[in-house]
Amino acid sequence: MADTLTITDNRTGKQYQVPIEHGAIRAMDLRQIRTSPDDFGLMTYDPAFQNTASCVSRITYIDGDKGVLLYRGYPIEQLAERSTFLETAYLILFGELPTAPELTAWTNEITLHTMLHENIKKLMEGFQYDAHPMGIFLSTVGALSTIYPDAKRIQDEDVRRLQVLRLIAKVPSIAAYAYRHSIGRPYVYPDNDLSFTGNFLNMLFKMTELKYRPHPILERALDVLFILHADHEQNCSTSAMRGIGSSQADPYSSLAGAAAALYGPLHGGANEAVLRMLKEIGSVQHVPAFIKKVKGGDGRLMGFGHRVYKSYDPRARIIKQTADLVFSVTGRNPLLDIALELERIALEDEYFVSRKLYPNVDFYSGLIYQAMGFPLDMFPVLFAIPRTSGWLAQWDEMLRDNEQKIARPRQIYSGAAPRDYVPSEQRKPR
Ligand code: ACO
Repeated sequence: MADTLTITDNRTGKQYQVPIEHGAIRAMDLRQIRTSPDDFGLMTYDPAFQNTASCVSRITYIDGDKGVLLYRGYPIEQLAERSTFLETAYLILFGELPTAPELTAWTNEITLHTMLHENIKKLMEGFQYDAHPMGIFLSTVGALSTIYPDAKRIQDEDVRRLQVLRLIAKVPSIAAYAYRHSIGRPYVYPDNDLSFTGNFLNMLFKMTELKYRPHPILERALDVLFILHADHEQNCSTSAMRGIGSSQADPYSSLAGAAAALYGPLHGGANEAVLRMLKEIGSVQHVPAFIKKVKGGDGRLMGFGHRVYKSYDPRARIIKQTADLVFSVTGRNPLLDIALELERIALEDEYFVSRKLYPNVDFYSGLIYQAMGFPLDMFPVLFAIPRTSGWLAQWDEMLRDNEQKIARPRQIYSGAAPRDYVPSEQRKPR
């Protein structure tokens, strides 16, 4: 017998059998539960979607209690150790690891699309000299939709694939231009002899040398960080990507919205917030006072806690190892000691333990980025580059899913009852 949930409605005395599939009931099955024929039917109320699955997905699996993260079934630890970002992006997008010829063709295709249209460069020149690179990034990604109007044909699989190539290839160029603009340096064109991350470092940091040669340890560290950030199932920005895409907007507009969601300090802005927090704490001696303040409800320990992980975020563990490698090249980040002390105290403290608050991916990533020479403003942009592959995979999956429609949640209205309009001169002061 199939699993079902029996619901008794005390208002009417009626009983309902609701099928259970994949550990979930369909919210629409509750609509039949009504008190009278003109009753709308029962809804679920789930602010912030804490217990609502919005899709069936085959891309990323997370077991938050056990600290497990799989992309298409492959453990994140194995990918971080043995894969490259471009190979992982292929896996996330197309479901399987590429064969050697597929990987070569994919890498070549991405490399061919790294250049930005010169008009985009002019557009970026219009931003204030001190504009936040994430603001520049998300506006520019959105503006790409005007350069590629063909992208509107979202039902055409070939057209979709072309936009995927363009976006994955161009986001590092946009990010690097945004950075160079914010520090008043001339833009650097892509160098197609370099790897994906090697070229990104070239576009960011090349000065007058004829050929930029990335440090292999830093190039690999950035690649690992990109692998770790490539997808994370239905988080805030991915839900934004799917939500906007569900109206059949083009992928550039949808991705601009996803990047805007990522910008917030509770999501992709968290690693920037971690660094600001560590600077504010200032020294290891001030850590206990800071923890006390957080426990008193004054602010949060940034880089701690996660909606899904209720144990150590597996990405944070890998990042901690990567940090050691990076610091062997760049020198130790002086804020590391404060971070380690915060983690030590928090992991022993009843407040954090009882709420299952552990370091998340952002707790250490900012320290690495800072040691590599990135300014704080660039941190969310560095998150958006690899996450572009995840957003696009989720968007593509949504478009192929026959069950999906335009996303449109319900509400429970608690506002004023119907009332008549009153002319302004007759309104009473409030
Ligand atoms: N510091 C202190 N207390 C915290 C923290 C924190 N970082 N995170 C959660 N709490 C507390 C809350 O105050 C709440 O306590 P209460 O039960 O006494 O009211 C309890 O833990 C549960 O918190 P919620 O806000 O309900 O948890 P939620 O799942 O909604 O939030 C989130 C998850 C947003 C990540 C949260 O933990 C947070 O704000 N962390 C800091 C920001 C951060 O690091 N974000 C990056 C997330 S990873 C990513 O986006 C890539």
